[in-house]
Amino acid sequence: MADGKKRLLTGLQPSGQLHIGNYFGVLKPFVDTYEGYESFLMIADYHTLTTLKDPAQLRQNTLDIVRAYLAAGVDPSKAVIFKQSDISEHTELAWIFETLVTVPFLMQAHSYKDKVAKGLEANAGLFNYPMLMAADILLYDTDIVPVGQDQRQHVEYAREAAAKFNNTYGQTFTEPGEKISDTVAVVPGVDGQKMSKSYGNTIPLFGSKDEIAKAVMSIVTDSSGERPANVYAIHKLFKSEADLESLYEEKKGKYKDLKEALAEDIERVVAPMREKYNAITEEEVKKILKEGAEKAKAIASTKMVDVRKKVGVSL
Ligand code: ADP
Ligand code: TRP
Repeated sequence: MADGKKRLLTGLQPSGQLHIGNYFGVLKPFVDTYEGYESFLMIADYHTLTTLKDPAQLRQNTLDIVRAYLAAGVDPSKAVIFKQSDISEHTELAWIFETLVTVPFLMQAHSYKDKVAKGLEANAGLFNYPMLMAADILLYDTDIVPVGQDQRQHVEYAREAAAKFNNTYGQTFTEPGEKISDTVAVVPGVDGQKMSKSYGNTIPLFGSKDEIAKAVMSIVTDSSGERPANVYAIHKLFKSEADLESLYEEKKGKYKDLKEALAEDIERVVAPMREKYNAITEEEVKKILKEGAEKAKAIASTKMVDVRKKVGVSL
C-alpha cells in the first residue's frame, strides 16, 4: 500500500440528518484516525435506496454528509471521498458475490431481520445489502473497516464473500482484518435510550443554537433531586468529568441550570463546525466527489478486470 500504510475504508448512508450520536460514534473517530491509514470514505447512496425513495432528499443528504465530514475536520487531499453509485464496479461485483452465497446464509443477517421487524419493506435490495457492502470493502483490498457494533456482522459477511470467491476462483481478495473498530460508546438520546433518528430522540449536530437548546431542554430527568443522569451522560462527551464534578455539585438539583450549561458546552464545540459546514458550497462538494471517484475508479476497475477473467466472462 502507498507509504506502507494499511488501507482503511468506511461507508456512511446518506439517510438523514446527522446527530451527536453519529458524531461521537463515527465522525470523530474517523477524523481522529484516518491520517494513519490510506483512507477511503464512501457515501453508500445505493444502500440508502433500500429505505429512502425521495430523490430530492437523497441528493440533499448526500451533499450534507460530505459537508459534515469536511466540517468535522477531514482534509479531502488526505482521504479518497467518493460516492458508491459513481463506481459501477460495486454493483457488478455484488452480483457475482450473490451467485456465491446462499439464501439461508443471507437470512441470518441481524440487520435485515431488525429492519424488517421495524416495519421496513423487505425488498430484495435490503436482503442483498451485505453483498453490496462486501463489494464496497473488497474491491479496494481493504485492511480495516471502522464501523459501529451494529455493522460488525456485515464485515464478517464481507470476509465470507472473499473466502467463497477465493476458494472457487483462486486467491483474489484480501479478507478485511479482525480489528473492525474500537467499540465506541453508545451515545444516549434525550430519553436515555440510544440516540437514533428512528427514535426521534436526537440532538441535531448542525442544528441552530436554538434547535440544540430546545433538544437539550427536552432531556428526560427523574425527580430524585440528585444528579440528572441523562443530562450528565451527554455532558461528559463535551467536558471532562473532573470539570463536571464541581458543576454538578454546585448545581445539585437545579436541572434547568445544568441543562443550560450543557447547551452552552455543546454550542461551544459545535459552533465552529457549523460555521464551516454552512460555508461549504455544493460546487466544492461535487468537485471533491468527482476527484474521489477518479481515484476510486482506477483501483476498482483494475480489480474487476482480474475478477472478470477469473470467473470466465472476459473472453
Ligand atoms: P441512526 O441510529 O440515527 O439511524 P445510523 O444507523 O444511520 O443512525 O448510524 C450511522 C452510524 O452512526 C453507525 O455506524 C452507528 O454505529 C453510529 N451511531 C448511530 N447512533 C449512535 C449512537 N447513539 N451512539 C454511537 N454511535 C451511533
Ligand atoms: N452499512 C453501513 C451502515 O449502515 C454503511 C456501509 C455501506 C459501509 N458500505 C460500507 C460501512 C462499507 C463500511 C464499509 O452504517
